[in-house]
Amino acid sequence: MKKFVALGILAVAGVVGTWGTWGLLQAQQPNDTGAFMQIKLQHAQKIVEGLALENYDLIGKSAQKLALMSHESNWNVLQTVEYNRLSREFRDSTDRLHKAASEKNLDGATLAYFEVTLNCVRCHKYERLSEK
Ligand code: HEC
Repeated sequence: MKKFVALGILAVAGVVGTWGTWGLLQAQQPNDTGAFMQIKLQHAQKIVEGLALENYDLIGKSAQKLALMSHESNWNVLQTVEYNRLSREFRDSTDRLHKAASEKNLDGATLAYFEVTLNCVRCHKYERLSEK
């Protein structure tokens, strides 16, 4: 009897787990570009949190997620040489941030975070200009 109860709990946990993971994947990869872009902001906020609390794990993971996002098709709103260059520079800065976090280098991570932020602003500036 106990065995069945345990199996039942396992089955429910499995379903809830799968459902949760599916929901998470949906949230991480929305088809809607606006929602996708909003997630960048969440990761950027996590980096500030990580820097303030010296949580290298959080900094590293968030930097990596931003880098991964820049490879997704939703990222490529514009198909221009300049946009690709800005994306590459953004990715390079997230890589430097990830590296600094894995070396537990707080000053280096703070500096790399500035670069990441600078690259957010640069690309948005370019994107706004190219809309006109
Ligand atoms: C290489 C270009 C590029 C970089 C780098 C970039 N973005 Fe964006 N971002 C865009 C584009 C393009 C849009 C507009 C998408 C659209 O048309 O809906 C956008 C839109 C957004 C939006 C608005 C979403 C909405 O509600 O419409 C937010 C928030 C955002 N980005 C955050 C960030 C943050 C934070 C960073 C840096 C960590 C960043 N972005 C870096 C290209 C970039």
